[in-house]
Amino acid sequence: MNEIRISKELFESLLGETQGDELISNTNLTFQEDCDFILHLIGNKPKKILDVCCGNGRLLIPLAKAGHHLTGFDIDEPSINEIRQLYGAIQNIDCSVKDAIVDDWGSGYDVVIIAGSVLFNIETTNDYKTMQEQFIRKAASALTPGGCLYIDYSPFAPNGRTLLRKGESVNDDGSIIWDTTTIDEDGNKKRVKLTKGSFDKETNILSFIRYIELTLPNGEVEKSGVKCVKHYADLEQIREWLDLSGFEIVHEYENKTRKVIDADSRTLILFGRKR
Ligand SMILES: C[S@@+](CC[C@H](N)C(=O)[O-])C[C@H]1O[C@@H](n2cnc3c(N)ncnc32)[C@H](O)[C@@H]1O
Repeated sequence: MNEIRISKELFESLLGETQGDELISNTNLTFQEDCDFILHLIGNKPKKILDVCCGNGRLLIPLAKAGHHLTGFDIDEPSINEIRQLYGAIQNIDCSVKDAIVDDWGSGYDVVIIAGSVLFNIETTNDYKTMQEQFIRKAASALTPGGCLYIDYSPFAPNGRTLLRKGESVNDDGSIIWDTTTIDEDGNKKRVKLTKGSFDKETNILSFIRYIELTLPNGEVEKSGVKCVKHYADLEQIREWLDLSGFEIVHEYENKTRKVIDADSRTLILFGRKR
């Protein structure tokens, strides 16, 4: 099993499976709140927006419906097919299956969005930290001068690691760092547990085992586990990458309420402008 599936399933276990409009309007207000927040930052004038690793269009769809021209890509073909099937008729949406690491992101965009903590959910077998920086460099290349980059980032914040106190975590001792169970409408019960976490304070590399136990309605149980490795980039690191790629940070918040980042912050929203 590869890293993308890990990240996506983890994400879905948090937010619920998505199915078109119903999903976007019903599942979680957060989808619309995130979209409204971005709309407020980028303004009403129609923009050319690139939604990097757009998943099944959580933000892409409402932003397109708000009148912007949306290009999105994701490595996950079923997600892109879902957007095409449900929203193929909407003319200002253009989406494709692409690997953010190897494929070109295009150019001439007014806004690039790297949302849903994509920087912590990159599918890659390459050096994780290098790939995070590469995402920011590719965003810069995809933007027109003066164009804006929106990033939201919550790198396993619930485990206690903060963005400003380097390398701190209460759960890097091998204990469970995540354990959640969801049941879908067909009665499949899925337990996702992230465990045996370890964190190297020198390299900021976080590793853990992702364990999945799927119980089917007939009682059959399928179990799988995979080792995951990620790089924890703190705020200082992300600021440095943005600067190196020619971004000026316009807004820096802990969350959508615009709370200022402090030593306890575990989530991050950055809005930068290409110089
Ligand atoms: C946590 S989801 C976020 C989806 C979306 N940005 C959102 O805010 O709802 C992470 C997404 O990144 C995609 N992804 C991860 N690595 C990728 C890569 N190398 N190329 C393209 N997509 C990738 C996954 O398929 C998944 O849809």
